[in-house]
Amino acid sequence: NLHLVLAVVAAYLIGSLSFAVITSRLMGLADPRTYGSGNPGATNVLRSGSKAAALITLLFDALKGYLPVLAVYLWGQPLGLGVDAAVAVGLAAFVGHLWPVFFKFQGGKGVATAAGVLFALNPLLGVATLASFALIVAFSRFVSLASMVAAAFAPFYQALIWGLGPIVWGTAAMGALLVWRHRANIERLLAGTESKLGAKKNG
Ligand code: G3P
Repeated sequence: NLHLVLAVVAAYLIGSLSFAVITSRLMGLADPRTYGSGNPGATNVLRSGSKAAALITLLFDALKGYLPVLAVYLWGQPLGLGVDAAVAVGLAAFVGHLWPVFFKFQGGKGVATAAGVLFALNPLLGVATLASFALIVAFSRFVSLASMVAAAFAPFYQALIWGLGPIVWGTAAMGALLVWRHRANIERLLAGTESKLGAKKNG
């Protein structure tokens, strides 16, 4: 299906827009790849001290996962694009964020983009996953830990409540990639050197 190929390529290109880098550049802030965890993501942009830049990064990195999936749901049916195509497009946006063609394939960890994809694929799944994330952040103050656990839960929520299907496999693949992208965070968590939300320095 040519429409699917085009949609996947478009979603990958949109996902490749690293809003941590773009927002920081536009707001005259340091490149997030040069401080803190070095990660081009909202959590690390927050370490620059600009809450506004972090919020904009979070919003746009989430939207680039949300909008392509929504577009497939809204306009895909006459083109033969169903739920499996929506999942493929969401994965493509997520992969774009992890390996952006515009930024030497050095992207982020995919938390905000995965959240956007989840909310578009199944809003209630998005709510359940976000609630899990919020609960773990509230108790641990570790965004990385909360992101990994919430992302790992998502396919189980989907499978248990709505049954097996493309969304289960898609969110499982996203969760696996997301955890793998956090391997430096896992080492820091185990070593006790991971920075907590609100702290500006990071190991
Ligand atoms: O935004 C990704 C988050 O889970 C971890 O980011 O900068 O603490 O490695 P960071």
